[in-house]
Amino acid sequence: MNQRDVIIACDFSSAAATFGFLDRFTGRKPFVKIGMELYYAEGPSIVREIKARGHKIFLDLKLHDIPNTVKKAMAVLSHLDVDMCNLHAAGTIDMMRAALEGLTRPDGTRPILIAVTQLTSTSEERMRRELLIDASINDTIIHYARNAKEAGLDGVVCSPLEAGMVKEACGTQFITVTPGVRFADGEVGDQVRVTTPSRAREIGTDYIVVGRPITQAADPVAAYERCIREFVE
Ligand code: C5P
Repeated sequence: MNQRDVIIACDFSSAAATFGFLDRFTGRKPFVKIGMELYYAEGPSIVREIKARGHKIFLDLKLHDIPNTVKKAMAVLSHLDVDMCNLHAAGTIDMMRAALEGLTRPDGTRPILIAVTQLTSTSEERMRRELLIDASINDTIIHYARNAKEAGLDGVVCSPLEAGMVKEACGTQFITVTPGVRFADGEVGDQVRVTTPSRAREIGTDYIVVGRPITQAADPVAAYERCIREFVE
């Protein structure tokens, strides 16, 4: 059985804003996601500082390059001691295998490595017209997820509504990490295919990534604890 957890998307533009937010969490230390904006603004020190405060970190940089370059970049992220990182499955099975090699430390341990299949911003129509992928979006997602599994990766990022079919194709141990989570009585914002933390739990996803419903809440700690109650406990 995989471990369920709530990951807070820390989509802030500076270390000061991030620490101002994280300072509120005096009890349970949330698992946090650092994305491109914050990482490119603050560099690796932001990872070290958040780690030193006792948080687990999902570094969401979505690597996609030739296998050798990705392998070397992953070795750097592994030394940074992140807990989870990701890449684009479109980089091929060879690239994903190289990434795993780079990520694995001399003692055999490594961060969780997951793949992005098709971004949720990519429509089936654009995939066909611009990327010349002549398959349905669901078939593409499943195919890429199977490639990730074949390469030895731990799982994929997907919409909560896709998590069931990914588990069916790749097995229950294959991790799904799902953004697009909203409280039943909350605002949806720009997310389209959303689900609640309790429904995500029923679907069987392993990690939910929650941003604005926590970061923009009047009481972020209470919103986080509500996610934990609905999804984890
Ligand atoms: O604020 P919100 O809960 O919508 O944040 C969701 C987080 O998950 C953001 O960091 C967003 O970039 C990320 N994400 C997403 N959809 C994807 C992949 C990542 O919303 N398909």
